[in-house]
Amino acid sequence: SIQPVILCGGGGTRLWPRSRASKPKPFLALLGGRTLFQKALDRVADPEHFAAPLVVAGEAHLPLVREQGGGGLAIIAEPVGRNTAPAIALAAHRAPEGSVLLVCPSDHHIGDEQAFREAAEAAAKLARDGYLVSFGIEAVSPHTGYGYLKRGARLPGGYALEAFVEKPDLETAKGFLSDGRYSWNGGIFVFGRERFLEELQAHRPVMARLCEAAVSEGETEGQVFRPAQSPFARIEGESIDYAVMENTTRAAMVPAAMGWSDIGDWKAVREARGGASSGPHELHDSTGVMVDTDGPRVSVVGLDDVIVVVDGNDILVTSASSAQDVGDLDGVKRT
Ligand code: GDD
Ligand code: MG
Repeated sequence: SIQPVILCGGGGTRLWPRSRASKPKPFLALLGGRTLFQKALDRVADPEHFAAPLVVAGEAHLPLVREQGGGGLAIIAEPVGRNTAPAIALAAHRAPEGSVLLVCPSDHHIGDEQAFREAAEAAAKLARDGYLVSFGIEAVSPHTGYGYLKRGARLPGGYALEAFVEKPDLETAKGFLSDGRYSWNGGIFVFGRERFLEELQAHRPVMARLCEAAVSEGETEGQVFRPAQSPFARIEGESIDYAVMENTTRAAMVPAAMGWSDIGDWKAVREARGGASSGPHELHDSTGVMVDTDGPRVSVVGLDDVIVVVDGNDILVTSASSAQDVGDLDGVKRT
């Protein structure tokens, strides 16, 4: 079966004030009852297809992980955040030998769970042939916050990659879009455990050595594994996209039409919710307005395309088109 690895890191400043350092995006119920982290767990809950997941999260978020994920979860607690390449390396070391890893971020929405499972199966087949596989999402805009996958030769269920380009500048992204051979990287990866560790060793030997040391000197307490602080903290943080995927010659992708959204800002939340507001509110003579309030009643009169979010003592008012700039507010750093 497939070994899921759920990544649960910080970030999500563009969803302030709901998202904060103390409770980042994965732990929020942005779309209905379950949080994004819980939905990531739900997605791999079927024991016929998936082994029990390994959750990698920061030490500071363990109470949230336990509260939302329930008792029996196997957790790897990072002493400090060093981005996704080291986080995945920890999980790879802790996973059973010979296993195929399915690395899932917990900051996404996936509308079609069946399509997700099918893509995972196809990717696992390629992983058993030695590929490092990304889920390819149809690129519909020159978004500069994503990785881009350039399709090459056909493979069973997918394509070999001619290139993996992480977060290109706008001009480059526009070129990719008109080229037609590029997809977005959905941020979900599938590969054999040993293959990943070999690639990390080849492309980032210092990181690989420090991760190995952190694991071999680590300690287990119940369901929680704690890598050793001092080697782990010495790692220079880097994402898997830059550290491994851009450098490997064995990258592949499976196309995944699964209703994917990374709900990266409040505009994307509005879209994923079909425009629905939540909490006490009244809209009058307003179109495209979304209110999300945790208590105070919000009334909006005669405005279009505005988003209002109330969280405790913090109130955000933004036009939908500027929603991606919310992370630039000084207030975001205060909380
Ligand atoms: N445990 C752990 N530790 N998790 C982390 C860490 C860390 O240090 N850093 C990030 N994560 C988690 C985040 O919570 C998120 O679920 C996932 O790993 C991806 O990290 P992001 O920081 O959100 O990456 P990104 O959005 O900039 O880019 C990635 O995702 C895009 C799609 O949303 C890349 O893979 C892009 O290529 C991709 O297009
Ligand atoms: Mg992200």
